[in-house]
Amino acid sequence: MAELLSVDRLRTGYAEAVVLDDISLSLAEGEAVALLGRNGAGKTTLITSLLGLTRWRAGTIRLAGRDITRLSPERRARAGIGWVPQERSIFRSLSVEENLTAIRRPGPWDVTRVFGLFPRLAERRRNLGDQLSGGEQQMLAIARALVLNPRLVLLDEPLEGLAPIIVEEVLQALRRILREEGLSAIVVEQKARQVLAVTDRAVILNRGTAVYDGSSAALLADPHLLEARLAVGDGTPGAPPSSG
Ligand SMILES: Nc1ncnc2c1ncn2[C@@H]1O[C@H](COP(=O)(O)OP(=O)(O)O)[C@@H](O)[C@H]1O
Ligand SMILES: [Mg+2]
Repeated sequence: MAELLSVDRLRTGYAEAVVLDDISLSLAEGEAVALLGRNGAGKTTLITSLLGLTRWRAGTIRLAGRDITRLSPERRARAGIGWVPQERSIFRSLSVEENLTAIRRPGPWDVTRVFGLFPRLAERRRNLGDQLSGGEQQMLAIARALVLNPRLVLLDEPLEGLAPIIVEEVLQALRRILREEGLSAIVVEQKARQVLAVTDRAVILNRGTAVYDGSSAALLADPHLLEARLAVGDGTPGAPPSSG
């Protein structure tokens, strides 16, 4: 498969702080990668670095062979990087349908298709953004990323804070988007097992470096390996990872 994203020896952070050091990562066209790691490991920083929102120090980022390392966030978005932020930014004073039509770009995902993916949103199409439940807002945030028809979509903790039944609905939608539609994606999650089940590969970050890069299925099949990788570097060898 052709390489879509290639991150080579990336070093980024904020102001004086270096958060990610020497990160390399590649993603093939159609591949879905789970990005795991404990709180503060640098997952969001990696996502926002791909979007161009952090302070770059060294290394390169290529999208479909094009060097995008120094492009502005706007130009990266136009180059095809889509984003579902942790804080689910939606237009609260627009209806569900307007949230989608206002930003849509040409491509396979249109409003009808995302309503097919999220029947709950179809029922709420005339409701305003701020009348939606947390779960519906998360679905709308994902739908918004899809109608922009990105080449690569970055999702930051899409299951966070959702009721179990909504987690199932969102997971089902992710399974369809990633497995059946073959959208290229990086999914950050604390709920490791659930996201491993819908991705091809997993990368585990710890203190700004990658401590695992391999198949999701292998991690899912070996809970000890998963726990050991998540717990790396916490100073207590063999200790289970802290929850949350
Ligand atoms: N805006 C910021 N300014 C300075 N440091 C930050 C900022 N955002 C995150 N950090 C630091 O970067 C590290 C990684 O954070 P983050 O990428 O949010 O981790 P994760 O998403 O894995 O929980 C943490 O030590 C955090 O305190
Ligand atoms: Mg985060």
